[in-house]
Amino acid sequence: MKIYVSRDMASVALGADDVAQAFADAGCEVIRTGSRGLFSIEPLVEVETADGRIGYGPVGPWDVAAVLDGSHPNRLGPVDQLSFFAGQQRFTFARCGVIDPVSLTDYAAKDGWKGLDAARALAPQAVVDAVKASGLRGRGGAGFPTGIKWQTVLDAPGAQKYIVCNADEGDSGTFADRMLMEGDPYCLIEGMAIAAHAVGGTQGYIYIRSEYPFAIYTMRLAIERAAHLIAPFTLEVREGAGAYVCGEETALLDSIEGKRGQVRAKPPLPALKGLFGQPTVINNVLSLAAVPFILAEGAEAYAAVGFGRSRGTMPVQLAGNVRHGGLYEIGFGITLGELVNDIGGGTANGRPVRAVQVGGPLGAYFPPSMFHLPFDYESFAAAGGLIGHAGITVFDDSVDMAHMARFAMEFCAAESCGKCTPCRIGSTRGVEIVDRIMAARPTPPSVMPAKAGISLPEGGAEEKRDPSLRWDDGGLSKALYSRSPARIDTSLDAQTTLLRDLCDTMKYGSLCALGGFTPYPVLSALDYFPEDFGATAPIKEAAE
Ligand code: NAI
Ligand code: SF4
Repeated sequence: MKIYVSRDMASVALGADDVAQAFADAGCEVIRTGSRGLFSIEPLVEVETADGRIGYGPVGPWDVAAVLDGSHPNRLGPVDQLSFFAGQQRFTFARCGVIDPVSLTDYAAKDGWKGLDAARALAPQAVVDAVKASGLRGRGGAGFPTGIKWQTVLDAPGAQKYIVCNADEGDSGTFADRMLMEGDPYCLIEGMAIAAHAVGGTQGYIYIRSEYPFAIYTMRLAIERAAHLIAPFTLEVREGAGAYVCGEETALLDSIEGKRGQVRAKPPLPALKGLFGQPTVINNVLSLAAVPFILAEGAEAYAAVGFGRSRGTMPVQLAGNVRHGGLYEIGFGITLGELVNDIGGGTANGRPVRAVQVGGPLGAYFPPSMFHLPFDYESFAAAGGLIGHAGITVFDDSVDMAHMARFAMEFCAAESCGKCTPCRIGSTRGVEIVDRIMAARPTPPSVMPAKAGISLPEGGAEEKRDPSLRWDDGGLSKALYSRSPARIDTSLDAQTTLLRDLCDTMKYGSLCALGGFTPYPVLSALDYFPEDFGATAPIKEAAE
């Protein structure tokens, strides 16, 4: 009997390896796939039958007999008919969870290399034109039109051109890049080979964060197996070393060059002067992995889906306190509320949703009153946020939003590359200001123990925060305060105004998105959850 079990790291963390071994021990032919992306049913076992693949999940190694005789209570029926999967538009993740990720035969059987073949039959300019016509925009977060970026590289003079894939997926709550690399690595390789053909690149690098060892292993194996198919283009994997800022494109290029990853001033754009000073296409995993579909099925098929200027699909990642966490690929335009409540199923613990952060640690927090927002670049920008890499992290009504604002500043302070002052100094000052606000505010309702169901230690709500989460500046700020306490107006109003001013400085004065976007979570927390900062009246009404 043929059994499919995911070997995606999220599934493995939930016990998929033991499950796969148990079925192999029972004499089944076990095929390891990527994950389909619904983690609440992992480890998922799919049994091949005449009626298609029948799913059971979650299951444990002790469930082999009940799965094989069909009596297991977690029998889900045909997997591709489950509403979580049937409702999706899987352009990029069509094969993920379905095929053996490193089987060239499986990949070719599911339309693999069709896009590359189509591209190679076209002149480079025609390939760039197809990507432009598809409306594809940078899926790393910035949403810059991919075709225009490729055009710049195609037109740039240069003896050597590079294709660089940014797989330094650092946003909290995101995992789409990892899932794709572990579940369908040839799709990324094909996308990069198409880019190489389009702009005249001969060498490519995939920069993967070191926290993704299995993605690194899978990509290296897949590159080795596909080398003859993409030649003369060659590919290499480079490992990051854990710095969030190396996800910023110019810091990433420095890191590949063997230097400390620090942000470069732009211009020059990497498209003109990138890796080793040569014209470079640098795109996120999801941007490059979208390209094979565009070339294989036509730009119109891709552009036909979407909303406004956001065309095609977005692999949305639902994480945090959410019932059905996972990856959901859908055309732009679905509302935030549909994603969180209908698809995500609300919170995992059943408490009301109070906030969702969209776009990773630099994204804004939105309350349910903003759930009407359509998921697209422009709508979120207009609402003071960003969709970023499409990570959505859900929080219930026990979240303390002042604490989350503090975390944003703390994260920036920890990850700042130190090159520019608003980010390097501002983030540490930001932590101090939020601390003063938290010290001066009455305990907000959201952290009252009765509501959150938490028993607090002596000392109240402030004491329940984990001191290890605090940014340690070596006592510097304490020393500064104690030298000049009289000069600090510690009233809530003064500190809130100071925090807003600081956010302005960081937003407009920082060199890159880390310092420039940290104000998004801080300001949105202040605007939508003023009561957590001690305000008695709403500071800003949520837009209807
Ligand atoms: P950006 O707006 O400076 O640039 C976007 C891209 O377009 C870059 O690749 C840039 O080189 C290119 N570009 C701009 N003008 C061009 C032109 N005329 N010709 C050719 N190329 C051109 O944004 P940046 O700083 O690269 O990225 C910021 C985004 O990164 C944020 O929106 C954030 O959401 C996202 N982000 C994503 C993370 C992740 O884990 N995926 C982590 C942190 C941030
Ligand atoms: Fe470095 Fe922060 Fe400035 Fe970016 S904003 S260049 S991370 S100091």
